[in-house]
Amino acid sequence: MLRVKSISKSINHRIIVRDVNLELDEGEVMGIFGPNGSGKSTLLKVIAGIIKPDCGRIVFGDTDITFLDVEEVVEKGICYAFQIPRPFREMSVFENVMVGCLLRYSKKEAKKRTEDILRKLGIVHLAERKASQLSQGELKLLEIAKALSTEPAVLLLDEPFAALDMKNALTVRDKVIELKKDGYAMIITAHRMRILREIADTFAEMRGGMLHAKS
Ligand SMILES: Nc1ncnc2c1ncn2[C@@H]1O[C@H](COP(=O)(O)OP(=O)(O)OP(=O)(O)O)[C@@H](O)[C@H]1O
Ligand SMILES: [Mg+2]
Repeated sequence: MLRVKSISKSINHRIIVRDVNLELDEGEVMGIFGPNGSGKSTLLKVIAGIIKPDCGRIVFGDTDITFLDVEEVVEKGICYAFQIPRPFREMSVFENVMVGCLLRYSKKEAKKRTEDILRKLGIVHLAERKASQLSQGELKLLEIAKALSTEPAVLLLDEPFAALDMKNALTVRDKVIELKKDGYAMIITAHRMRILREIADTFAEMRGGMLHAKS
């Protein structure tokens, strides 16, 4: 469904992503682990259309999406959830998710879908709270909720378990496992493999910008 072919990206004359290839099938979950600065976030941002690659191709279904704008990539069905959550801080949790739902639906339908997403992620009790007042764990869940609101087929989750204590990391893990059961294809990055092991179907390690398949 998603094919990344020989993608490279340099920033300030430094190669950050080096000739990366990967394939993701419908409903498949790939875990990418690797140390700080190995290029994981940059790779996901390239796939999401946030950063343009220097060379290589990204094909989604039958469409070459390599040079589409991020909004167009979202519309095609690929959405990136930032490592450091980026909500609209002065808006409520509900409004943050509603914004995405309005991309595809009328106000009435968007409201219903927003409620469904908040319920699915277990944050419906936070609906009226301002994003700026959320805890770290709640922010991670809101970031995933915002991504879901665009109705993606592929979710790119960048370190969804990082910067959390164990209890919150396990809460996010359980929600991500539910999303997998719902059939979302995902690429999930993490520093370590342990939680990824419980979720992903395939694994790869990023080192110095290169991606190596692991079993
Ligand atoms: N916009 C930028 N300008 C300059 N350097 C950048 C930029 N974005 C990324 N880099 C550099 O590229 C390298 C890879 O960064 P990236 O964030 O992709 O790694 P990562 O594997 O996600 O790291 P982490 O595990 O810390 O999240 C780092 O050395 C980083 O400093
Ligand atoms: Mg990163």
